[in-house]
Amino acid sequence: VDLRYSNTLGLAARASHLAVLREPAQLAVLAADPALARMPWHVLGGGSNLVLPEVVPGLTLKVEIAGRRVLGEDGQAVYVAAGGGEPWHDFVQWTLAQGWGGLENLSLIPGTVGAAPIQNIGAYGVEVKDVLFELSAYRLVDGERRVFGNAECAFGYRDSVFKQGEAGRWLIGEVVFRLPRSPVLRTGYGEIDAELAAAGLPHTPAGVAQAVINVRRRKLPDPALLGNAGSFFKNPLVPAATRDALLAEHPTLVSYPMPDGSHKLAAGWLIEEAGWKGRNLGPVGMYARQALVLVNHGGAARADVAALTAAVQASVAQRFGVSLEPEPVWW
Ligand code: EPU
Repeated sequence: VDLRYSNTLGLAARASHLAVLREPAQLAVLAADPALARMPWHVLGGGSNLVLPEVVPGLTLKVEIAGRRVLGEDGQAVYVAAGGGEPWHDFVQWTLAQGWGGLENLSLIPGTVGAAPIQNIGAYGVEVKDVLFELSAYRLVDGERRVFGNAECAFGYRDSVFKQGEAGRWLIGEVVFRLPRSPVLRTGYGEIDAELAAAGLPHTPAGVAQAVINVRRRKLPDPALLGNAGSFFKNPLVPAATRDALLAEHPTLVSYPMPDGSHKLAAGWLIEEAGWKGRNLGPVGMYARQALVLVNHGGAARADVAALTAAVQASVAQRFGVSLEPEPVWW
């Protein structure tokens, strides 16, 4: 089965076997098949944070579990659940249309609701961990359901238990969000305040969502037009001493202090300074308007992505002594 249009990088790839999952109960049926049970299984959502091999061995499970429902509310918040296969941005727009804030900064992020917790998606000062109450996961080997509360997800920067100790074991069927009745708008990060003013947008969740959409459209390529997986590397965390030494040598270095005293370096800046902004290697390159985004100009396969990844890592390591870690999951 061709997967070229099921991964936003647009890599040439195909699945040996594919099953579309509309209900978690299908898992137990698939697991009961001895031939399928012997194969490796991979869970595919929107394919927006993935580097696929040319052939995905075993069974690929395409999650299309739909549904949005209100579970209830207390004085402070409304609890809303969404199926793992719901497109993330459509769900965010729906919550805003109901008058509920909390997800506005996470507008226009590609992918599905079920994939969002895996790498703890984040943008403009908000991460999904800030509003995620709990999730229902289903064990691949037998379809057994387990509820993970927020703390059990062990969220970190672009990280969770589903990328660490529990990687590859679960399918996320439903996510419950706790959306505050009086959301605190976070507009201080990046250009959001400036965009609100420039576009004359109101200081409301819907206004902030529109500002985020405007900024993202300007900086990030639309995967429908130019294959990409968003930021391709994590912003590296370094000790204060490393950052101070780098800053002394490179006065324009961009970094942000972290609560624990370490510093997060802007990987886009490192890559641009290392000469890779707008530069290609074969059919792939680093995007001309945001050096952190790896783009597929057409016809690329995983080996092309691997070659550029290694070249960018080597340049940045040589120039700054900093190692960059890819953000997407490599199958
Ligand atoms: N910069 C450059 N050159 C570049 C790109 C960036 O010098 O080519 C410097 C600029 O100084 C800029 C700073 O880096 O101000 C930060 O850039 P930006 O605001 O675009 O954010 P980012 O750190 O590159 C992160 C997330 C994005 C998220 C934005 C906004 C990571 C790995 N990426 O990018 O998330 O949308 O902040 O919050 O943390 C994603 O994960 O796929 C993603 C798009």
